Amino acid sequence: MNPVSGADNQLRVAKPFLIQQDWNAYTQEQHSVWAELVRRRMPQLQEHAAQEYLDGFHQIGLREDTIPNLADVNRRLGPRTGWNATPVSGFLPPDAFFEMLAARQFPTTTYIRSRESMEYTPEPDIFHDVFGHVPMHAHPVFADFLQHYGRVCARLMDDKDKLEKMGRLFWFTVEFGVIRQKGKIKLYGSGLISSHGEGTHVIERRPEIRDFNLDQVLEQKFLVSEEQKVLYAIESFDQMFEAAQEAEKRLS
Ligand SMILES: [Fe+2]
Repeated sequence: MNPVSGADNQLRVAKPFLIQQDWNAYTQEQHSVWAELVRRRMPQLQEHAAQEYLDGFHQIGLREDTIPNLADVNRRLGPRTGWNATPVSGFLPPDAFFEMLAARQFPTTTYIRSRESMEYTPEPDIFHDVFGHVPMHAHPVFADFLQHYGRVCARLMDDKDKLEKMGRLFWFTVEFGVIRQKGKIKLYGSGLISSHGEGTHVIERRPEIRDFNLDQVLEQKFLVSEEQKVLYAIESFDQMFEAAQEAEKRLS
């Protein structure tokens, strides 16, 4: 199935942002940037990423040496959880973003950063979006959480304050989430997975890591541009899913 035509049928607000990934147009240099990024992250992640992330990486068929072909990823991911990594042209406005999450379509950029900005790219790229995010979408509970999150936010579009609170829930789970497994802090948030600097920052225990607490998370301000000073550790992905349901009750 072509994932984009599937998405076309469901998506209304996000439709203008959908593109095709022209996989054959990637240059050897671009593939080698991907390969270097993966090789740089993997030794740390083998030891410090949540097992669910590492399992997902293999389940969706990501490779070290080439930029993923999203159609191949979706052939593996779709049957597992119903999610697709759906190519988009760049940043999406919130209503389009939430519409896609609610439809189990993860907006995925196809561009890859240049060698000059290996560590940090202000715009999301395919390394952050696919390497950082998509492996977790193979996990059934995470997959359900993310769809539910999108549905709740889509209904809160007219309330900026509530949406800001939901944005914090996203930030401290999907983007900068950590989980306690066998007494150790493991990474699963895409910002920690895809950034060597951010991941190292957490592993060296420089931020304060608190037990996940929904009340605190909904009120916890953060700065996108700085390393995180406070993170919240979940005990299980079920806890994260329950937090989304609880947030829905409180904010609806
Ligand atoms: Fe992200």
